[in-house]
Formats: sequence, C-alpha cells, structure tokens
Amino acid sequence: MILTKIEIDSGGSPFPKPVVLVGSVVDGLPNFITVAWFNRMSRSPNVWGACVGKTKHTLQGINENRTFSVNFPSTDLVKETDYCGIHSGMEVDKSKIFDVFYGELESAPMINGCPVTAECTLTELIDMSTHYLVLGEVKHLYSEEKYMTDGVLDQKKLNLLIFTNPARQYWTLGEVVADAYSIGKSYDV
Ligand SMILES: Cc1cc2nc3c(=O)[nH]c(=O)nc-3n(C[C@H](O)[C@H](O)[C@H](O)COP(=O)(O)O)c2cc1C
Repeated sequence: MILTKIEIDSGGSPFPKPVVLVGSVVDGLPNFITVAWFNRMSRSPNVWGACVGKTKHTLQGINENRTFSVNFPSTDLVKETDYCGIHSGMEVDKSKIFDVFYGELESAPMINGCPVTAECTLTELIDMSTHYLVLGEVKHLYSEEKYMTDGVLDQKKLNLLIFTNPARQYWTLGEVVADAYSIGKSYDV
C-alpha cells in the first residue's frame, strides 16, 4: 500500500466537540468556564469529564465545594459562551452574565437560559500535566418540556453549540444521516 495521505499537525484535535459551560461558586460568586474538552466517562454511575486548565478560576470553586455544573448552551448564547472562554473570573465578574439557579446540591450554579443543565459531585481530579481531568457524577439533569419530542430530548430543538478545530468556529448540528446501532445491520459483508 502506498501512503497517499499528507501529514497534518499532530498537536491538534480535528474532531467536532460539544461546547459546555462548567460552573462553580468561587468566593461566593457563580463563575463559568467555556469547555470543549468534555465527554461522558462511565454509564453507571453516570460520570462526565471536563478537562480544565490548572490555572482556571472555576477550578478553585470545584475544589472548594466538591460540586460543579455542566450547562449546554444553544446558538442564541454564542456571545456569552465565547465571552466566558476569553475572560477569566480572575479579571472579570462573570456572575451576572446568566440567570442562575441552584438545584439540590445547592452549590453548583446552573444557567436558566441553557436547555440542558446538570449538577455534579466531584469524584476525582486526574493530573493531565497542563490540565486536570475533572470527573463528576451527574446527580441531577434538568431540561424543559419545550426541548422534548415524545418525552425525549430533541437535538433539533436544543440547537446546541458545536466547536470545531483547527478553524476555531462554532457550528450547529446538520441533518440526521441514519439511526445508530441500526443502519449497520443492513451492511452486506
Ligand atoms: C471555544 C472554547 C473552548 C475552550 N475549551 C477549554 C477547555 O476545554 N478547557 C479549558 O481549560 N479551557 C478552555 N477554554 C478556555 C477557557 O474557557 C478560558 O481560559 C476561561 O477564561 C477560563 O475561565 P476561568 O478562569 O474564569 O475559569 C476554551 C475557550 C473557548 C473559547
């Protein structure tokens, strides 16, 4: 086989990622960090992981309270989301940007304007040299009836922000291609 590919920047991450706002209470005020390095880590318990730079202000609140929130912004919050990603709570007060509410954990600030929000308890901080992988168990997940179809979350209605590299742009989801765990059954080997 001949190598027909060209080698590209191996330090990048070409895959599209959901962008979330991770919230914590720092020195008595809610603070939010924009995070694109985010994923689900385990099913039961339902553990989510966010990679947070070691110098980030939000990390202080996560450490202190052992709780944090994960908020999924729609495209209408693109300016606010980007603002939280280019300004640190160490320089600006980000507590008034969003209408904030608290759930049962009482110390994980969630954003009313986000269609899906979660409150998590910190389970582990894993040292990743430049970042900590912040692992948290989802204790409560919230949404609203208007984002659902037949009782389940509808991605079209959520209209969540997607972050892409290397262009560093926010996108929205496109069209459904096929049903997962299903279309493959019709593949003829
Ligand atoms: C689109 C986007 C994605 C980002 N993803 C991450 C990330 O995954 N992890 C991280 O530590 N910082 C990320 N950042 C940078 C932080 O959001 C930024 O440094 C922020 O100001 C930190 O806020 P804080 O110091 O108040 O916690 C991202 C920024 C943008 C604009």
